[in-house]
Amino acid sequence: MTFMVWDSSLDTGIEVIDEQHKGIVEFINELHEAALEEDREKVSHVLDGLINYTVSHFAFEENMLEQHEYHLIEAHKKVHRAFISRINKHKEDHDKGKNVARALSGELQIWLSSHIKNEDADYVRSLDIKPPSGGLLSKMLKKFF
Ligand SMILES: [Fe+2]
Ligand SMILES: [Fe+2]
Repeated sequence: MTFMVWDSSLDTGIEVIDEQHKGIVEFINELHEAALEEDREKVSHVLDGLINYTVSHFAFEENMLEQHEYHLIEAHKKVHRAFISRINKHKEDHDKGKNVARALSGELQIWLSSHIKNEDADYVRSLDIKPPSGGLLSKMLKKFF
């Protein structure tokens, strides 16, 4: 059974961002799986991948926010940084031999969905970033009206 299931409440409407968020969800599920299998090497591998992927997503998102001159960018960056240092801390604990993966996958699930629904949702509301489907929708509307 999948641990973290994507649902529409996590959609930002910005396709490229949603794809990246889904990528993070995949890593969280892999981490959970590795934890259940008690496979420490797999946990290490997944944690490295998760950290790299998340760092790239944050850089992409921050760049987009900068281009759109989002007024809360500094606060948003701070939240991203705090999150990365938390995962790094967990990775260190794992490397020291502690069993962190199970609890961490739960923590990540809660953190990611809350971040998407609160901080990420805020920039979506504040900025005029047109979702690709917007073009399609207006074309469809033109057809009907
Ligand atoms: Fe974010
Ligand atoms: Fe994000």
